[in-house]
Amino acid sequence: MTSAFSKAAQERIPGIIARYAEKRGALLPLLWLAQEEQGYVSEEAMKEIAGWLDLTPPQVYETVTFYTMYNRRPIGKYHIQVCRSLMCALVGTDNLLGWIHAKLGIKTGQTTPDGLFTLSQVECLGSCGTGPMMQINDDYYERLTQDKTNRVLDDVKREGKCPLATGPFMFPEPAQK
Ligand code: FES
Repeated sequence: MTSAFSKAAQERIPGIIARYAEKRGALLPLLWLAQEEQGYVSEEAMKEIAGWLDLTPPQVYETVTFYTMYNRRPIGKYHIQVCRSLMCALVGTDNLLGWIHAKLGIKTGQTTPDGLFTLSQVECLGSCGTGPMMQINDDYYERLTQDKTNRVLDDVKREGKCPLATGPFMFPEPAQK
């Protein structure tokens, strides 16, 4: 039977399950493993995970749909997640979405034609004092202006990263130069 997981990933699964008193405790890390492998959590992966953890596929599906961190379809190489919760919304979530749209031509839920960027809106990312902010893959970009946003997107497109990344979770904040 073919698997949604690579051989290397399959070898890690017993160790992940063993970390939890109850098998179902391994659900979130196994979903994360599936996403690391494919960039999203496929239905095949959900069914396999359900089998390993003695859950029903709907139990796995309802968890996947609860957390915005899990993608249910293929996404671009760089996943832009814009915080839309209250503190960021007050200081410019809509502006940030507009700057991204002006630069990349995509709206929420869309992927650029070259397959590089997918744009999502998510709830609070824990950087409420430094909005408007976005996360691209694992990196945070905070206190964004249009110029900064353009630079981040240019750098990420060219090099896969940008030195303006501030986190996640640098506390206290580095001194301003
Ligand atoms: S409200 Fe945007 S990071 Fe918390």
